Amino acid sequence: MKLVLLGPPGAGKGTQSVVLSKQYKIPHISTGDILREAVKAGLPLGIKAKSFMDKGELVPDEVVTGIVVERLKKPDVQKGYILDGFPRTLKQAEDLDKALAGMSSGIDMAVYFETSVKTAIERLCGRRVCKSCGFNYHVKNIPPKKEGVCDKCGGVLFQRPDDNEKTVMNRLKVYEDQTKPLIAYYTKKGLLKKVSGDLGVNELFKVLSNTFSDAKIA
Ligand code: AP5
Ligand code: MG
Repeated sequence: MKLVLLGPPGAGKGTQSVVLSKQYKIPHISTGDILREAVKAGLPLGIKAKSFMDKGELVPDEVVTGIVVERLKKPDVQKGYILDGFPRTLKQAEDLDKALAGMSSGIDMAVYFETSVKTAIERLCGRRVCKSCGFNYHVKNIPPKKEGVCDKCGGVLFQRPDDNEKTVMNRLKVYEDQTKPLIAYYTKKGLLKKVSGDLGVNELFKVLSNTFSDAKIA
């Protein structure tokens, strides 16, 4: 099952990817996570990406596409994968298609998490992430048992530096301008499936599972 998850920041792409990856035993490939790891490790990629990420701007296409294409050459993607947060521009989508065609492959479905701006803002401003294992919480929707502490590993929870109101507003604008055209791109290819990103985590997971089995890709 080769999936692209599309939708605004805060739509729940990362949250669903974690569950879907476990359920279908396919890797979750998040360009946001890869870039944040590179920033944390002080790698040249991270140094290059940080200034864009802090402002809520997109990291240049050639940088991000190169990372994904290399990742898709690894053996663990044979059964499928979930692309979370990539592609995010028409150029990325076209280059992804070209690279996959070169591997005699292609994606099976692009799932669009249609999400209201109100939901997105509320989710992003309340998100907390574990410093050790990366698990995502939400202060109201998905709170940890003990405030500020990860249920899974006991790690400290922190707020992503780009989850402040000013950067969130810019990320939403960048999404509207640069990523939303991908909905038409995948619709034209007959690959788009729309789901509601406003649903609760478990409800949305059920909708996704049914969508995949109806399309006979799971
Ligand atoms: P990235 O990390 O991809 O961030 P994003 O697209 O802004 O998306 P988010 O991770 O914020 O949202 P999400 O949909 O994953 O929501 P989540 O599940 O966490 O990118 C960060 C930056 O990296 C970009 O700004 C850019 O600079 C760079 N970058 C990355 N990819 C790039 C690319 N391809 N090209 C160029 N640059 C790139 O959920 C959010 C919150 O809501 C959490 O608190 C969660 O607990 C809660 N929640 C989730 N689902 C639900 C639900 N159903 N109900 C209630 N609460 C929920
Ligand atoms: Mg995410």
